[in-house]
Amino acid sequence: MSVLDTIKSRRSIRKYKSDPIPEDVFQRVFEAVRQAPSGKNLQPWKFIVVKDKALKDSLARASANQMFMAQAPIIVVACGFPDDCYSHMGRYMKSWTVDVTIAFEHLVLQAEEEGLGTCWIGSFEEQEVKAILNVPDNVRVMALTPLGYPAEEPSYRGRKRLDEIVTYDGF
Ligand SMILES: Cc1cc2nc3c(=O)[nH]c(=O)nc-3n(C[C@H](O)[C@H](O)[C@H](O)COP(=O)(O)O)c2cc1C
Repeated sequence: MSVLDTIKSRRSIRKYKSDPIPEDVFQRVFEAVRQAPSGKNLQPWKFIVVKDKALKDSLARASANQMFMAQAPIIVVACGFPDDCYSHMGRYMKSWTVDVTIAFEHLVLQAEEEGLGTCWIGSFEEQEVKAILNVPDNVRVMALTPLGYPAEEPSYRGRKRLDEIVTYDGF
């Protein structure tokens, strides 16, 4: 698939098969993560791969009881390092949320390319997730996603028109 085809065919998946992810597929997904760009190439991130059933259930409960997450063979938890990132982006902000988001989107798109499903999870209790996975105080949890073979084919959710989101030569 072209990059645009991959982008357009992706959907948020909320039903998963329990089929395991072959090792070569897993490696390609995380190679896409590894190659992501970041401010000053600092790569201020760590991705926790959770396979344990009890841990997956706990993470789903800590994510507003979105129990579908635990159906997937893996939940990936994206963490960022605020103390170890480019700190003057636009002269006003730290880059870690952007850095981690780019890398996580690489995961999402390579997963789609491999026939795997994901669902970006932003509704979670960070302190609960950190306690479940022993994440250190100075590390932040940015997002989670289940990763596994889809058991549904959701329809297109629609997007704003291009002329609503792009302007030329000024705001
Ligand atoms: C930052 C962010 C947080 C999200 N949080 C959740 C979530 O907690 N649970 C969920 O089911 N979907 C979540 N989503 C998925 C969105 O609802 C979904 O991307 C959007 O409705 C468009 O649908 P699509 O991904 O199928 O194109 C989130 C997406 C983003 C980008």
